[in-house]
Order: sequence, then C-alpha cells, then structure tokens
Amino acid sequence: MTMDRPFFVTTPIYYVNDLPHLGHAYPTVAADALARFMRLDGRRVKFLTGTDEHGQKVEQSARAAGVSPQEFADRNSAAFREMDRLLDISNDDYIRTTEKRHIRGVQALWRELERRGEIYLGRFAGWYAVRDEAFYDESELVEGKAPSGADVEWFEEDNYFFRLSAWQDRLLDYYEANPEAIAPRSRRNEVISFVKGGLKDLSISRTSFSWGIPVPGNPKHVIYVWLDALTNYITAIGYPETESAEFGVFWPVAHHIVGKDILRFHAIYWPAFLMAAGLPAPRRIFAHGWWTVEGQKMSKSLGNGVPPEFLVGKYGVDPARYFLLRELPFGNDGDFSHRAVVGRLNGDLANDFGNLAQRVLVMISRNCGAGVPEPGTFEATDTALLDSARGLLETVRAHVSEQAFHWALEAIWRVVGDANRYVDEQAPWVLSRSDPGRMRTVLYTLAETLRHLAILVQPFVPGSAGRLLDQLAVPEAERCFTALAEAPLRPGTRLPKPEGIFPRFVEEAVR
Ligand code: MSP
Repeated sequence: MTMDRPFFVTTPIYYVNDLPHLGHAYPTVAADALARFMRLDGRRVKFLTGTDEHGQKVEQSARAAGVSPQEFADRNSAAFREMDRLLDISNDDYIRTTEKRHIRGVQALWRELERRGEIYLGRFAGWYAVRDEAFYDESELVEGKAPSGADVEWFEEDNYFFRLSAWQDRLLDYYEANPEAIAPRSRRNEVISFVKGGLKDLSISRTSFSWGIPVPGNPKHVIYVWLDALTNYITAIGYPETESAEFGVFWPVAHHIVGKDILRFHAIYWPAFLMAAGLPAPRRIFAHGWWTVEGQKMSKSLGNGVPPEFLVGKYGVDPARYFLLRELPFGNDGDFSHRAVVGRLNGDLANDFGNLAQRVLVMISRNCGAGVPEPGTFEATDTALLDSARGLLETVRAHVSEQAFHWALEAIWRVVGDANRYVDEQAPWVLSRSDPGRMRTVLYTLAETLRHLAILVQPFVPGSAGRLLDQLAVPEAERCFTALAEAPLRPGTRLPKPEGIFPRFVEEAVR
C-alpha cells in the first residue's frame, strides 16, 4: 500500500572545496525532518544527499591544498558524511559525483540530449564566476562582480551549448500547470519573471581545465559542473535505466530542498534538461533562506562558519536541530546567535516541553506505582486536552507538506502549552491526597498527551523523542503515526524511572 505513496527528498549536493558548516547543516536537517515525517506517515521514502566534487573551484582548491582533486574530494566528502552522523541524519543514500554510477548516468543524459538535437558546438565569450560556477551576462554584473559578490573573469573558448532558449515557453507552462512546483511563492514569481525576460542558450562544457566528466565523443571537453551535479538526483535512482525499480517509483515525485542562491539552477536549468531528455520535471523545489551568524555573513576569512561539531558539541544534536527548524520560517533569512539558541533551548525545550514531561512522569512514578494509571471518567477539560493532541497530526501534516516546519513546531508547542496549563489547573499533587481517582484520570490524560507529542516530534528531535517514548514504554512498532489513534497507553504498563529529556543550557562560568 505504501508503494502508492512514494516520497523522494533531496538536499543539494555539497561542494567539497569547503568544510561543512551551519549553511550545509540547515538544508540537510530540513530534508531529514521531512524524510522522517513521511516515513512515520507510512510513505515509502528515499532520502538522498551527497557531495558535488567536480569543477574548476574544486580543482583550484585541491591545487592550493597540494593534493590531487580526487584525494581532496575523498577527504572533504568524508567530512560531510561525518556531519550527517553528528546531526542524526537518516539518509538512505549518499551520492558522490565522482562515483561510476553517476558518471555513467551523466554521460548517458548527455548522449540523450545530443541525440535529440538539444546540444550544439559553439564559441563562448562571456563572464564566469568560479565561486558560483556560473555564467553571467554583462547586464547582470553589479560593479564588475557577480550579483552574489563573486569575482568574475572573462573567458572565451569553444563550448557545447544546450538550447535553453527553446525551452522558455515549456518552462512557463510547467510553472503554470504546477503552481506548487516552486516555493515559496515569492521565489516562484522571481523565477517566472526571469524566464519571461528571455533565456539564452547555456554553455555546458569547458576545455580550460580537466577535473570533470569527459564529454562523450570529445574528451577535450568536460561537462559543465551544474549539468553534472543536478543529474545526481536521477543517477542515484538508477538513471539511465528508467525502467529500474527505483526510478519507476521515485521519479518524478522528487522534493528538492535548495538554498535561494541555487534556485535558478534547480528551477530553470534542471527542468529544462529533464524535459529536453524526455523526462518529467520534479514535483517540488523549495528554496530556503540564508543564515547570518551573530549578524554577520558567514565567511572563510571571518572564520565564523559554525561547524556541525560545534553546534552539536555546544548545544546537543536535538536542540541544534530544533533551533534551525523552529527559529525561522523556512524560506526566510535569519540570524544564528548564541542568545537566540539559548532562548529557545531553555524556553521551548527545557521549560516548556522538558518540564512538562518531567513533572508528569515523576508524579506517575511516585503516585501510581510507576505504571500507566487507570483513568476514571473523563471530564470535559480532559477531553479538550486529549482532543487538541489528537487533532495535531492533521495540522502538522498540512504544515510539513508545505515545508512550513516552524508552523508545525509551533502547533505542537501550542499543545505543550495547553498541557502545562492543564497541569497547573488540575494540580494533581493536590488531588493525590484529596481525590486519588481523579488524580489518576488527570495523569493518564497527561501521559497520553505526552505520547502524542513525543510521536509527533520524532522527525524534528528524534533522539529526545525516542527517549521520551522509552519512558512511556511505547514499543517501537507503536511509534508511527497510525499508532496515534490506534494504540493509546495501556493502564498498568510499567514505566521506567523518569529521566530529564531536555536539560537546561547553563553558561560555563567565566573565570
Ligand atoms: N554544489 C552546489 C549544489 C549542487 S545541487 C545539484 C552548491 N553547493 S554549496 O556547498 O555551495 O551549497 C550548498 C547549499 O548550502 C546551498 O543550498 C546553499 O544555499 C546552502 N548554504 C550555504 N551557506 C548558507 C547559509 N549561510 N545559510 C543557509 N544556507 C546556506 O551550491
């Protein structure tokens, strides 16, 4: 049955000229939350990430480091895998563009485009920014630089071109027919107006350096790094074998998570390449915003890159994940500051959720013989809380399906807030003496609410949610979303000793 609802989610593949930092952790954590959510929701998921290893930028960085491009790529690709491990990323595959399966697929795509008359040999003369691995028109330059601020250089060489100009109308038709394909809406509008402004044919090969995939039949040329890189999304599912099991299931249901800086490549070039090769364009491309750090742009020279080891070492993996997904509306720019992280950590996590769980579990352990209490008759206030917990899945699902992770978390925390108010109002510590039967109903209501909350936060803070579910003695098989309605806590189930799940962040004393 799940075969009917496959879900394919990807991160950008990261350039190996840099080491991982917050800017890379962000799309990876977002894609991970999406993948985990869909798995728990019964979908058949493929979650792909990896590294982008060819091109002039990587070649230059390897040279500067005094090693071969392959050695350089091996080393830094391993650092991105380590980032995934640290951040508890649940990817099903990891693609490197230097792998055989990828090279073979890219060359096959090239041949297909050539066979269909989409490629011709011409002469390129124009501006190129190595940092962006992108061509720019004279009219796009801002004070002699690329719009991104990258330095540009003039170059002229014989290049193969892709007939991008011929795809303008069909791209516009694709955007029109699929209003959800490019998000957020403001970005979609930008893409549409760019395409309406007219498209030029795109240079898709280079001869002035050699670190890339050779053009089939003319190995003096290497394939343009963006054509190479974008193709990872299909080589990882078996392209050119379009009849293969994975390709048939996961294309075109792809959800590409990308930064706003690389939206043009994904929303214009990629669908055009695909359609030109006779393949459907992806289901959705979501462009997220950019983080600054303590108000400043992240840069190598400032050394303010915030590596994943720092994030996880200082704050812990789940708090870091929570912060990234809760702090900003996905799509907006924002600032990563120590103060803001500690605010969320001590506020939302430790005070609101952590305390709620701790209070409830400790009271159960002390007053109910360390087992799930037997409830009596539910009163309206109990049912109101339980109903708000039971209604969460639908709300959270709607937000997650639009990649509105912050709204999803906000909705979950609204119920955390309801539950905290309910504890205060019901005061089960008073009931323990005055009305133990009523206390058991109240504590059952709270424990069952916690079960809902813990199941629903798994995609975002998987380790902590798992520990909370352990403390509620929820078996592995009952942690998916169908269990929300089907497997309420069973009175009498023994519960382990309560342990805090979200510790407070305490600043180290400055001596
Ligand atoms: N290799 C290309 C992507 C090819 S995908 C077929 C690339 N790599 S990258 O390593 O430079 O960037 C990867 C992603 O990291 C981009 O989506 C970019 O938006 C994101 N970020 C890099 N710095 C960032 C911030 N400061 N904030 C948020 N995301 C940022 O581009």
